[in-house]
Amino acid sequence: MVETLIEDVYARKVYDSRGNPTIEVEVATTEGFGRASTPAGASTGIHEVVPFPKGGIDEAVKLVNEVIAQRIVGMDAADQVAVDGLLHEIDGTNNFSKIGGATALAISIAVAKAAASSFDMPLFQYIGGAFATEIPYPLGNVIGGGKHAGDRAPNIQEFLIIPVGAKSYAEAIEVCFKVHREAGKAIRSIDGSFAGGRGDEGAWAANISDEDALNALSKACDKVQSETGCKVVLGIDMAASSMWNSEKKVYVLRREGKVRSQDEQLNYVIEIAEKYDLRYIEDPVHEEDFEGFSRLVKSIGHKTLICGDDLFTTNASRIRRGLELRAANALIIKPNQVGTLSDAYEAVKTAKRGGLMPVMSHRSGETEDNFISHLAVGFRCPLIKTGILGGERVLKHNELIRIEEALENVKSMAELPSQLTR
Ligand code: PGA
Ligand code: ZN
Repeated sequence: MVETLIEDVYARKVYDSRGNPTIEVEVATTEGFGRASTPAGASTGIHEVVPFPKGGIDEAVKLVNEVIAQRIVGMDAADQVAVDGLLHEIDGTNNFSKIGGATALAISIAVAKAAASSFDMPLFQYIGGAFATEIPYPLGNVIGGGKHAGDRAPNIQEFLIIPVGAKSYAEAIEVCFKVHREAGKAIRSIDGSFAGGRGDEGAWAANISDEDALNALSKACDKVQSETGCKVVLGIDMAASSMWNSEKKVYVLRREGKVRSQDEQLNYVIEIAEKYDLRYIEDPVHEEDFEGFSRLVKSIGHKTLICGDDLFTTNASRIRRGLELRAANALIIKPNQVGTLSDAYEAVKTAKRGGLMPVMSHRSGETEDNFISHLAVGFRCPLIKTGILGGERVLKHNELIRIEEALENVKSMAELPSQLTR
């Protein structure tokens, strides 16, 4: 315990990739150090924990430095469960509304990093052990819409790719960048006025329709696939909660000024899944519609991953409900949706036990922290969703290249489900 004894905890306000303030925490042990910062979403789920206390980030920073730090100093950084349990105890609510989930997560991750550093181990290995040797595939975001791009962009939030034929992360990410470049050209051929703008995650933000975006993506994938020989499959994040009008019970197509009923939304999803051979569809319907999710799993789940993000919000009890209803076959893991590393692990464990594939994920407002690269390997998630371009995204890809190099003699690419490999 001597080397992992927590001696100091310190918080400060820093900024994320959208220029919004967030919290960064540093934890020092006798022989180690960890620093972590929390990202933020734009299309947040209603069941996510509350990110900051009522007084905002300044209050969160003050709370850590004047109250929480004293309680954590003297604890063992290697006892993650005890630290995370204490954070819940200090907060005393079921949604971290008192201290903030962003506050809790920055402390939780900084403690894990400090423990790993005390043992002179990389974070992924500290978390996952000697057999955490599988490299995830990137789920690259090529074209953006919804809340991540302007009003004239597509309704669908993310047009995604997975280079399932890649033999390494380095190859996989290179293929993603190539598809991104080709998609930029394809967009320009649809919209001559396209000026090369990009949304929050580095995906192209263009004044084109959903169908045009899907066509541009398909075209770009075909080209890169035939040039590189690497198989690439397509997906989307509909982020349907952002389109849902709960009073009128319709999905609003902001771009066209039209609406879709719940049945029309389901039919549309099935139609584009077929037409574009989509292998991955995230949040196809809104976050309370477990039944709509179930209907999609029943009709296309054998050939397409139906992934819950806002539906589950990395929350083990919502995941259990989803399992009972067979509402998905994959899920997004966003640690800041739930507030601590232990809670995120609980979500991964619950999901895997029920046969759901976990996808480790960033947020649209990211920080300079690379912890999700380590969690993807440590928690054995076959996919990592971390956008595409921009320093705050690329640094996560680069960290996976370093992890892959460190595991050179033992690594293998993650095993993918049949929906992606068929
Ligand atoms: P967010 O969106 O980080 O803006 O909430 C990402 C997603 O929906 O996957
Ligand atoms: Zn999502």
